[in-house]
Amino acid sequence: MEAEPRTTRGRWPHNPVIYQIYPRSFRDSTGTGEGDLRGITERLDHVADLGVDAIWLSPFFVSPMCDGGYDVADHAAVDPRFGTLEDFDALVDRAHDLGLLVMIDQVFNHTSKDHPWYKRSALREPPYENFYVWADPNPDGSPPTNWIGFFGAHAWRWNPRRRQYCLHQFLPCQPCLNHHCPELRARQNAITAFWRDRGVDGFRYDAVTAYFHDRALPDNPPADLGGAQPINPFEYQLHQHDMMPNDCAAFSAELRDAAGPDAYLLGEINGDDLSVELVRKFSRSDRLDAAYTQELPSSPKLAPTLRRLIEDGAGQGAMAWWLSSHDQPRRISRAGDGSARDARLHAGLLLALPGPVMIFQGDEIGQQQAHLEYHQLRDQFDRNYWPATAGRDGARAPLPWDSEAPNAGFGSGEPWLPIGTAEQGGVAQQRQDDESVLAFHKRALALRARLGLADAAIEIEQADGDQLVLRLQGAKGPVVVALNESDKTCPVPPRVAGREPLLGSCTLSTDGLPPRSVFWWHLDDAAPGA
Ligand code: NOJ
Repeated sequence: MEAEPRTTRGRWPHNPVIYQIYPRSFRDSTGTGEGDLRGITERLDHVADLGVDAIWLSPFFVSPMCDGGYDVADHAAVDPRFGTLEDFDALVDRAHDLGLLVMIDQVFNHTSKDHPWYKRSALREPPYENFYVWADPNPDGSPPTNWIGFFGAHAWRWNPRRRQYCLHQFLPCQPCLNHHCPELRARQNAITAFWRDRGVDGFRYDAVTAYFHDRALPDNPPADLGGAQPINPFEYQLHQHDMMPNDCAAFSAELRDAAGPDAYLLGEINGDDLSVELVRKFSRSDRLDAAYTQELPSSPKLAPTLRRLIEDGAGQGAMAWWLSSHDQPRRISRAGDGSARDARLHAGLLLALPGPVMIFQGDEIGQQQAHLEYHQLRDQFDRNYWPATAGRDGARAPLPWDSEAPNAGFGSGEPWLPIGTAEQGGVAQQRQDDESVLAFHKRALALRARLGLADAAIEIEQADGDQLVLRLQGAKGPVVVALNESDKTCPVPPRVAGREPLLGSCTLSTDGLPPRSVFWWHLDDAAPGA
C-alpha cells in the first residue's frame, strides 16, 4: 500500500520522539507518596535534556483510581492528588519554554462508574439516557451476548436502577460510552477544546479501537487456540462483534476535526486486528497521525516481529514504536536480564527506527521491572492474575532520581509502590557517568536527529534468526543498523566490516557483534552532520 503524504502539524515534527510520564510515579513534590503535576514541572529539564520532542502525560484527571486514572470521573478537571488546573497550566508553560510539546491522554471509550454522566444515564435522565451502551437482558435474565472484556470479566454488568445491562470492556468500574450518541460526541469534543485552549498540543486516544460495537449484538465466535490455555478468558474468543476497528478508524476523522489540524494525534490499538493495514486506516491526514499496537513490545524476540512489521510497511510513520509502557512489564526484564546492556540494546534499536517513537519514563536509565508481592499490588488487573503474569504495577514503580537519597529522591512520603531500580543507579548517578544508559540515550537521540533517522526510508538488508540488519536512508546519507539479539557473537555485516560504528551499545569486538548488542554505521565517508 502506498504511504499517504504526511501532513505537517503546527510545531510538531512528522515523527516525534515522545516521552511518556506516568504522573503518579514520576516525582512527588508534596510528600504524599504519589507523584504530582508540580513534581513533573520541577523535573522537566531532565526530559528536555534527553533530546525528545514531546511528553505524553498519562491521566491526571479526577478519578477514583480503580484503573490507575483510566477511570475518569471528570475529564476537564485535575484530580486533587495530582494538583490543580493552575499546576497543569504551569506545567504546559514550562514544557513549552523547554521546547517540549505536550500530549495528554483522552479516555473516551469509557468512564468511571462515578462519573455524573453514568449516574444520570442509569436514571434515564435526558440527554444522558444513551451516553452508555445499554442493552436488555435475554428473556432468562442472562446478558445479551457472550462478550468477555479485556481484563477477563464478562463484559456486561447489570444495573438495577435501569434494569438493563451496561457494556464494560475493561474493569467492572468502567462502563463503556456509546459513540452513536451525538450528544456524547458533542461533550467529548468540548473536552478536547477545553484542553486545546489550555495549550495542549496533542492527544493519545485510549482504546480507540473499542469505541464501536456491532449494534445487532451477535455472540463472538470462539478463537482457535490450538490447544493453548491462555490465562485471560478474553483470548478465548474472536472479538468480531464487541469491537469494530474499521468503524473506529472512520470515526477518528471526527477526533481530528475536534482537535484541529495542528494537533498531533496518536491512537492505541488493541483487540484482534493488529495489522499494519489497520494502523494505516487510522493514520491519515484527516484522521490520526499514528497509532500503535502491542505486537512488538510483547514479542519474545524483536528481530522476527520487526522484520515482519517493516515488510508490511510499518516503518513509514503510521505506526509508532515503543517497547515499554505503564501497561506492560518493562521490556528489559520481560525479554532480557534487566541489565544496562539490555537497556542499551533496546534503546539502540528503538531510537534507530523511522517513525514516531515513545520512551516510557525510567527506560532512559534502564529501570527494571519491580517484582511485587500480592499485598503490594494496587492494580486490579494485576491482582486478578497474580502471580501468573509479571504485571503492570511492576512497570509503574516510581522513578529513582537519586539512588543514594531517601526514597531514591522520589519524594519525602512513603511511596505508593516500591521505588524502581536500575543497574547503574538513579538519574543523578547516571548523569555523572559517560557510559551510563542515560548517556547512551542522549547520544542515540542526538544522532537520530542529526542523521534524520525519524523520516528515513527503511529496508531489511539481512534477517537471520536473532540477527537483523537494517538500512536506513536518512537526510544525511545511508546508515546501517545491526541488531544481535542472541547470546552468541555474530558476524559484522560485510558492507560495514572495518568501519568505525557511529554508535554501539557496547564495544565492537574483533570477532563480530557481541551478544545482545546493536551498532549503527554511517556509509558515507564524510562525518554526519559535519
Ligand atoms: C489502556 C490503558 O493504557 C490502560 O492502562 C487501561 O487499563 C486501559 N486502556 C483501559 O483504559
